Amino acid sequence: MIGRLNHVGVAVPSIEAAKRTYVELYGVREEDITRTGEMPAQGVRYAFVNVANSQIELIEPLGESSPIAKFLEKNPQGGQHHVCFEVKDIYEARDSMIAKGATVLGEPRIGAHGTLIIFVHPKNSNGVLIELMETPKEAH
Ligand code: CO
Repeated sequence: MIGRLNHVGVAVPSIEAAKRTYVELYGVREEDITRTGEMPAQGVRYAFVNVANSQIELIEPLGESSPIAKFLEKNPQGGQHHVCFEVKDIYEARDSMIAKGATVLGEPRIGAHGTLIIFVHPKNSNGVLIELMETPKEAH
């Protein structure tokens, strides 16, 4: 059983430009947007926009083999890429997904929040790529 919605992942051609959109158009304070980080192993740069009840994760391709690059070819302006729910135990969640016949993409690995994540194929969830993330230990 999934827990709280942690974030919505949005692929963008430029994180810095996307940050400005949230500040200038939607009034998000600069201090509520994280610095841009990099996860070379996953081929992404990322930053989080904190809003009252959740986060938007901005992701930009890093390197030529980035999995985000193909998505941006189809969606040049960017677009909603995945939805992330928290789970208590990532291995339990993975085993449960597999037992129910879902396609889990890759092994549990450390995500942008420093906890273990997996992805479930969009074909199993009405066309939406689902990220499952072990709940961070610190309070939200
Ligand atoms: Co994510």
